[in-house]
Amino acid sequence: MTESTHEEPRPIDLKGYLTPVPDEIDAVELPVTGVLPPELTGRYLRNGPNPLPGERTPHWFVGHGMIHGIRLREGRAEWYRNRWVRTRRLAGDPYLRQDGTRDLAAVHANTHVIEHAGRLLALVESGLPYELTPELDTLGPCDFGGRLTTAMTAHPKEDPVTGELHFFGYGVEPPYLTYHRLSADGELRRSVPVDVPGPTMAHDFAITQNHVVWLDLPVVFDMSLVGRGMPYQWNDNYGARLGVMPHDGGDVRWFEIEPCYVFHVGNAWEDEAGRVVIDGVRYSPEVWHRSWTSIGGSTTPAGGPVAAAAAQGGTCLYRWTLDPATGKVHEEQLDDRWIEFPTLNDGLVGRGNRYLYAVADDSPTGENGVVLKYDTRTGASQAHELGRDHVSSEAVFVPAADGRSEDEGWLLSIVTDRAGAASDLLVLDAADLAAPPVATVRLPRRVPAGFHGSWVPDTN
Ligand SMILES: [Fe+2]
Repeated sequence: MTESTHEEPRPIDLKGYLTPVPDEIDAVELPVTGVLPPELTGRYLRNGPNPLPGERTPHWFVGHGMIHGIRLREGRAEWYRNRWVRTRRLAGDPYLRQDGTRDLAAVHANTHVIEHAGRLLALVESGLPYELTPELDTLGPCDFGGRLTTAMTAHPKEDPVTGELHFFGYGVEPPYLTYHRLSADGELRRSVPVDVPGPTMAHDFAITQNHVVWLDLPVVFDMSLVGRGMPYQWNDNYGARLGVMPHDGGDVRWFEIEPCYVFHVGNAWEDEAGRVVIDGVRYSPEVWHRSWTSIGGSTTPAGGPVAAAAAQGGTCLYRWTLDPATGKVHEEQLDDRWIEFPTLNDGLVGRGNRYLYAVADDSPTGENGVVLKYDTRTGASQAHELGRDHVSSEAVFVPAADGRSEDEGWLLSIVTDRAGAASDLLVLDAADLAAPPVATVRLPRRVPAGFHGSWVPDTN
């Protein structure tokens, strides 16, 4: 636990492209510029926080989940619709009950939306997933037949070979971390507690062919912040480590690393020498402090140990190479642009990938409004420039049906005018990111900046 000296929380001012929308709408036959590839037939779905009209929240992360959906079919943009996830929290139920227990269904369900084994799930790391219909109506919380008794991360990993879904739940009471695995047909088959020193905010993790990789990083639960938004803050005393655990459980091999935070892993894999390589977006302590306060989080007051750490750099693509034979870690920054939301061809999750995609925004170095493609083998990168007036949300890779190369396919991203005037669904050729968009779908309304999404093809 950390000591705290905090002011009362103030509602965060969500404006411009962060401004929530006030209602749910439907629109059909959306205007398209360019040509939508006919094989892009399915739904692009994206989740994000959207407080109710008049509702003020202390932190960007705690708004009610809203799914924005765009239905593409054989070259047409058939519909757009947006729906709040109808959670118990939206109905007014408290997360923390009077008896001190937590209602894992009274959550915002605002971070990701995925499909696995025929279930469409809205996810948030503080509680249970919510199952949705293909039309984005809410069916209810999902605990996999009563078997899931912890929260579920918003960043599960589907093994592209086995179809199993690896995930975890974290909480504020021991066991702080629990590993779970669903079979390819969606049954919760395995739940294993993992021993970690404290209750950290574990936003993401990684898998490789044979291992699970844990990120045990120094953003730690702080009881004094409960009820004030996100009750987590940096703790200089916690240390930072990555842990490698066999898929079937067993001992975790821990590797100490330079203190940092990682919201998002790009990918991880085992190299030919048996080392575990993890690519992710790293926040130095100083950058963490700046980023977390800008969205309503609490940190040690300015001038304290976090600011004193004064590490250089931004939210950069970074690589950790863990060598079980020697116990050593090699750390390497791969680029100096400030990025977020790394994505890849999901057919290579846990395996060696060549390409990573990301978006950049609000960088002091000027790379505003770009979608990026990294060739992690050569170090080259390519950018699709959106300009300073536009902000890109996560770019989701959709593979071409008969793609022969890793980058044969499209990137889908909702791009919003920075002032919040309008949004488009951008379809980019992932093989040539610098080319003009393949197609642009004009959406009937602004879509506020949000978190993560998925392409759900009709062929699933
Ligand atoms: Fe995330």
